[in-house]
Amino acid sequence: MARLNLLEETRYEKLPVTIYPDEHIASKKVAARIANLIREKQENNQPAVLGLATGQTPVGVYAELVRLHREEGLSFKNVVTFNLDEYYPMKPESAQSYVTFMNEHLFNHVDINRANVHIPDGTLSLDEIPAYCIEYERKISSYGGLDLQILGIGRTGHIGFNEPGSAPNSGTRLVTLDDLTRRDASRDFGGKANVPTKAITMGIGTIFKAREIILMAWNQKKAPIIRKAVEGEISSEVPATYLQLSDKVEFVIDTDAASELTRFKTPWLVKDCTWTDYLIRKAVIWLAQHTGKPILKLTEEDYNNNGMAQLATEKGPVYDINIRIFNEIQHTITGWPGGKPNADDSQRPERAVPAHKRVVIFSPHPDDDVISMGGTFIRLADQGHDVHVAYQTSGNTAVWDDDALRFVEFAIDFGKSQQLDTKQLENLYGNMRNFVAAKQPNQPDPKEILTVKGLIRKGEAIAGARFAGLPDDHIHFMDLPFYDRGKVQKNPVGEDDILQTMELLRSIKPHQVFAAGDFADPHGTHKICFDIVLKALQRLKATDDWVKDCWLWLYRGAWHEFEVYEIEMAVPLSPSEVERKRLAIFKHQSQKDRPVFPGDDAREFWVRAEDRTRETAHIYDELGLAEYEAMEAFIRYSF
Ligand code: F6R
Repeated sequence: MARLNLLEETRYEKLPVTIYPDEHIASKKVAARIANLIREKQENNQPAVLGLATGQTPVGVYAELVRLHREEGLSFKNVVTFNLDEYYPMKPESAQSYVTFMNEHLFNHVDINRANVHIPDGTLSLDEIPAYCIEYERKISSYGGLDLQILGIGRTGHIGFNEPGSAPNSGTRLVTLDDLTRRDASRDFGGKANVPTKAITMGIGTIFKAREIILMAWNQKKAPIIRKAVEGEISSEVPATYLQLSDKVEFVIDTDAASELTRFKTPWLVKDCTWTDYLIRKAVIWLAQHTGKPILKLTEEDYNNNGMAQLATEKGPVYDINIRIFNEIQHTITGWPGGKPNADDSQRPERAVPAHKRVVIFSPHPDDDVISMGGTFIRLADQGHDVHVAYQTSGNTAVWDDDALRFVEFAIDFGKSQQLDTKQLENLYGNMRNFVAAKQPNQPDPKEILTVKGLIRKGEAIAGARFAGLPDDHIHFMDLPFYDRGKVQKNPVGEDDILQTMELLRSIKPHQVFAAGDFADPHGTHKICFDIVLKALQRLKATDDWVKDCWLWLYRGAWHEFEVYEIEMAVPLSPSEVERKRLAIFKHQSQKDRPVFPGDDAREFWVRAEDRTRETAHIYDELGLAEYEAMEAFIRYSF
């Protein structure tokens, strides 16, 4: 059932894709479609049979449905639901079950008849499952089949829990979860080891029978898998590609999730473009990387053979374009991240004046400063700038329990060695030890354990910042309140976080602010920390004169680096600076060897940092620029 695609721009896309500016707008649109379906069925006295998904993606849709119920009288009396999946084994009352999820996000807040709700049962014995699955399918059919199925997509390309290898005609069944899926779920479960290895899921064949299918995806994290699902060959390796065979599917995604699609990533391959400076830079770098040539060796033929003939004719000759872009990239490189004193700064990323700048480096967790921009941090201090570092959160969730105990033991032993009274401390220690011995996965720590964990990280951060050359009074621990609130509530940012940040900024009046610019994980601490800095600066701008001279630079945290065409300042590191940076990272002992939240990447933080900065230097080298050992990259953010 190949789809006829009449538009040049979307000719690589094998199914219909609707793109909205952000997930909020998109979620409202999807919710409105669901609401229309429910009302239409109500008018005809029919049930509306919905296939539902869990996970982060549909949360906004459910919130909007709840709003429509509360404020606009949308009734769910005629709604029958079938959820895609449930972990196995899983008790319905446990915090991570999809039953709990659905109750919290939807069912507890609307007038649905509970008898109409169906979620696969994670409590069955293994031999009960096959018959249960057949019955699940039969029940769906007994209501006349699903009117609408909504889907998210996993980074493995799974829909429901149909992992790579699933057959296109598969039915509801017990499956084994992919390792990547379990890693993605590990935060909810307090470690991957606690994530069930199996799940009961509707099959791809079951999903296909729905009369309408909407797959949603938000944010950059999903962009690579969306590209594969939309433009890739149909294959069991990416189960979502099977949806290309359906003529009733639509992908509803936001611009970030769409960013890897050909029409955005390399638009010159699919249409005539308006050649802005930014797009030219992006295209020329792409052409150099695609052909494996340095920029200055790109020829007219390279342009013509790779969809860039329009650029060559409109803005050529190509050698002039090459030189222009080469120079632009050349000018991003500077060994003077705080500006070079007494130098012509017209082609430099930073201003020469004032020669000595006041600088604030915001670090979401206590080690992001040295991991992500340690070389630049050290340079700024070495070059005599007035550098402050502000640790935005305590990072207390990421310390092992046994480390916390060990430090209290140390405090007791030290107290005893000085003949101090340590009785109270010993009592506290006894309680802490008992708690840790009986601790359940993901169980929140009591206050005193959190305090010890925070203090461990504080000591490490002080050691790291001192090593980078800062005096103690330039090291600030903000302990922003949202961080602890975030452990119990969903939208934790408060006025107090912003005011505290404004106060710190006001006391320093920086010329430069560095902040972690990680937008791929919108619910992550880094993004929240960035939003707080941005809001603080925006508010100060209205009242404080110094803000006019304050530039905001973004660095990237533990995830991927900026794209080369985005980089506005690249600070090269010599081999010995790479080594100094490594030693600064080593001060964070609690994060070495085996961090509590390693994320997707098994490498230690210092290895990740070195690999990434070497890779940036290597890309510059391959584009034909000078060859450096490593480079830290920044972009400037206008606010
Ligand atoms: C959930 C489900 C999964 C998720 C997918 C994306 O019921 O079946 O396929 O839709 O893993 O998860 P999020 O939305 O959390 O990124």
